[in-house]
Formats: sequence, C-alpha cells, structure tokens
Amino acid sequence: METLELQSKVHDEARQGEAYSPFAIDPNNYKKHFYIESYGCAMNFNDSEIVASILNKEGFGATRNVEEADLIFLNTCSVREKAEQTVRKRLTEFKKIKVSKPGMLVGVLGCMAERLKAKLLEEEKLVDIVVGPDAYRSLPNLIEEAETGQKAVNVLLSREETYADISPIRLDSNGVTAFVSIMRGCNNMCSFCVVPFTRGRERSRDVNSIITEATNMYERGFKEVTLLGQNVDSYYWVNEQTNEAVTFAMLLEKVALISPELRVRFSTSHPKDITDEVLYTIAKYENICNYIHLPVQSGSTRILQLMNRTYTREWYLAKVNRIKEIIPDCAISADIIAGFCTETEEDHQDTLSVMEHSQYDFSYMFFYSERSGTLAAKRYEDDVPLDIKKRRLAEIVAMQNKLSAKSNQKDLGKTFKVLIEGNSKKSDEQWMGRSSQNKVIVFDKKNHSLKKGDYVHVKVNSCTQATLLGEIV
Ligand code: SAH
Ligand code: SF4
Ligand code: F3S
Repeated sequence: METLELQSKVHDEARQGEAYSPFAIDPNNYKKHFYIESYGCAMNFNDSEIVASILNKEGFGATRNVEEADLIFLNTCSVREKAEQTVRKRLTEFKKIKVSKPGMLVGVLGCMAERLKAKLLEEEKLVDIVVGPDAYRSLPNLIEEAETGQKAVNVLLSREETYADISPIRLDSNGVTAFVSIMRGCNNMCSFCVVPFTRGRERSRDVNSIITEATNMYERGFKEVTLLGQNVDSYYWVNEQTNEAVTFAMLLEKVALISPELRVRFSTSHPKDITDEVLYTIAKYENICNYIHLPVQSGSTRILQLMNRTYTREWYLAKVNRIKEIIPDCAISADIIAGFCTETEEDHQDTLSVMEHSQYDFSYMFFYSERSGTLAAKRYEDDVPLDIKKRRLAEIVAMQNKLSAKSNQKDLGKTFKVLIEGNSKKSDEQWMGRSSQNKVIVFDKKNHSLKKGDYVHVKVNSCTQATLLGEIV
C-alpha cells in the first residue's frame, strides 16, 4: 500500500518523496567536498541548488559520491510522517561511513530541521548541523563551528530572506528545464499542513532578480523555467523606488517576454487566488504552458471548511470551468488527501465526484498524516482508521487512473509541440519530451538531426498509462 502515496503518474519527481541524486560540480579544485540529497517538493530541490551555490563560493565542491564527501547534507521534508521516516532511515545508512571517517560532518537542512530544531540532535546522534530553510547563508559559519566538535544549529525564520541575489548551481540538471523560486513561505494555514511552520511567512522575491535569473538561464541554453512558490498566485512585489506593484499575472508576462523560445511553467496555484488575469495571460502567450496544478484536497465542502481551504466544492468547480473556458486545452492536476479528520463515506464520494467533474489529467494523492503543531492536530481527532484511509486512497487512485487513461485517449491522433528533454528512459534511439500540457511524450529519433532543448512537433499514436508515444511530423 505504501506506493499508493505516490502519484499515479511519474512526471514530477519532486513530489514522489524520492531522493534526487546529487551532482559533481568540479571535484578537482576544492579542499572539501559536500554531498547533498533533497527530499520533498521542488522548492526544497531548488533550495539545495542555492545551498550548493553558497558552499561553492566558500570553496566547497560537490560530489555525487557519498564516500568521498567531507560533509553530507540531507535537505528534508516534513509534510507527511512517511517523508520524515525516509530521512531517518537514510541517516542510519550514514552511520557506517561516519565510523570509518570520524571527521565527516552530517547536516540536516530544510523542513524537518525547522520542525524539530535542536531536538533532532538528541534524536539522531550522528547529526552535527541543523539548519532551517531561511538560514542557509549561515551554513559556512555553522560548518566552521561544527568542525571544532560543537553541534551547530540555526533555525531562525525570516520575514525577508528570498536568496534573491544567489544564483543557484544547477544540480543534476538536464540543461533544458530549471526551477526558479519566486517566493518563500506560506500564509495560508490549511489546517492539515506543516509548511507554514517550517517555511515561515510568505514573502515575494524581487522581480528584477527573477527576470535576471530566468534570462541567464535562457542565455545558457535552458528552454523552460518553472516558477515556484507554495501559492504563486499571491505573488506581490512592490518596487520601493517607483512604487510599481507586480502581481503574478504581470510576472508571468515578464518572464514569457524573455523569449518566445522559453517555456514558462509555475506551481502551485491555490484555487482561491488564481485570477482571470492570470488565466488570460496564460492564454495570451503560447510559451506559457497550458497546465495548472490546482490542488483540491477534498470534494466535500464540510471537509474543505475543516481544512481551512476557504473555498467550497461549487466554488472550486466553477474555477475549473473558468480555466477550461479561457484556456480550452489546459491540463489540470490536483493534490488530494484521503481520510482527513471526520471524513465520512459521503465526503469521500464527494471527492471522487469532484475528480470526475474536473477530469484531472493527473493527480498527487495521499492519505492524511497528522502533523503535530498544525491546527488540525490541535483541534480535531485523527479519527479515520488507517485501513479506511488506505482503502479510500486506493479508490481515489483508481479513479485517477481512469481519468488519466481517458485524458491520454483524447490525445491520440493529435499533434503536440514537444520540448526535448533528453533520451527516453528505455532507449537512446528515442527522445523524451513534454507537451505544453506537461504530458511526457516518447518518440523515435529517426534521422532527424535534433538535440536536447529543441522543439519538435510530434503526433501521438498510442499511449501507456503514464506516457504518450508518437512520431515526428
Ligand atoms: N502549497 C501547496 C502544497 C504543499 S504540500 C499547495 O497548497 O498546494 C503538497 C501537498 O501535500 C498538499 O497539497 C497536500 O495535498 C499534501 N499534504 C499536505 N499536508 C498533508 C498531510 N498532513 N497529510 C497528507 N497530505 C498532506
Ligand atoms: Fe500548506 Fe495550504 Fe500553504 Fe499549501 S497553501 S503550503 S497546503 S498551508
Ligand atoms: Fe516538504 Fe517542506 Fe516542501 S515540508 S513539501 S519540503 S515545503
């Protein structure tokens, strides 16, 4: 049943809770080397790229070989119990290495560091450094402190930190697609969610630094940027000199205007905040992808209220209709939680029917995992038994599989503009890329002289559960 926590489609590793493999930057030129693994969401992955940049400036090189590392970092996620268990298990695997290499330091970064703070040092004896998501600039000092044999902790959250001036070092990059964080933190307080506690208050990054970073990426050959935030639609930045205010719709437009050759994606949209203006901007620019991740969480208005999502089932469905009206071929995906506190069979049926009405192209599905400190943990009893949570989740996954199959069937015979990301997993004779709708399409290279980062039109002939198969036209 464990695998049911994963989404039905494997198209965004950031949400699978799997480790990213780290990347060797230049193992020859540095006195010390660090190894970094990221868990959880894309924002964490992007944070590791910021950490790599901070460490690199201080003379640390990255290595993808953990045995070679003087410093091991895990950038961690707390969103569900299972995410934390994965990290704890991974830490035990480092014990052996540490015994054979006593000077080696182990650091825990990210959300679990923020949630557990110094307690983590008591619970996990091999950890030397604990650093929260807003304290990465202090890492070099913390490393120095830890090198003297002391334990080093910085879990201060900030209202201002956006790491705007730091150019991330791209880890394990395909050279085609990259993440750009546009904001940090979250003010929403969904009752089930630990993120506002681990990431702090919402703040938006200086628009100029975002445009500069995206432009640099494009100049270096990247063809797609994904703008990241927990709630991108509430992006709001005011230039203090000119008093010019920039909304998310305006930001999207500015990034789209860098070049028609640069695709723009974004994640995540909270249904309450995505505006018509954003939808019209997506419709206006061909290079802003027709794909919106619009987490619903539950289809029951009563449960949505307990979750503090601030919309009703009807309001959500109206939003979905609005998206399809303004951007007719827009793909939509969702996050869904099964078995939230007090959820009845009827509430669960409401979730299944909201999925059907919305016709999601994919979904990320989870069963509820109580997180201490959250509003739900304080106010409501986690009263849906685990076996029922899992059964409901299995039904949600089955529904999504049906919807995904239907969505793929609809694509048969259609031609899509695909951005080539690399070889397909199965064969060097085939390319793998994505459509604007974020669907993975695999096709034979044939004799065309194409390369990674090129756009090509592909006609879809068939599909598997997770992939469309096509041919160059
Ligand atoms: N900011 C994003 C989501 C961040 S967390 C958003 O609002 O969509 C990603 C997803 O994890 C959430 O959308 C939710 O579906 C799931 N999630 C969060 N807390 C959870 C919990 N306590 N138990 C199970 N799933 C949870
Ligand atoms: Fe969590 Fe809600 Fe914020 Fe998303 S919007 S990070 S689910 S509190
Ligand atoms: Fe996890 Fe933190 Fe992201 S809790 S989902 S890594 S913001």
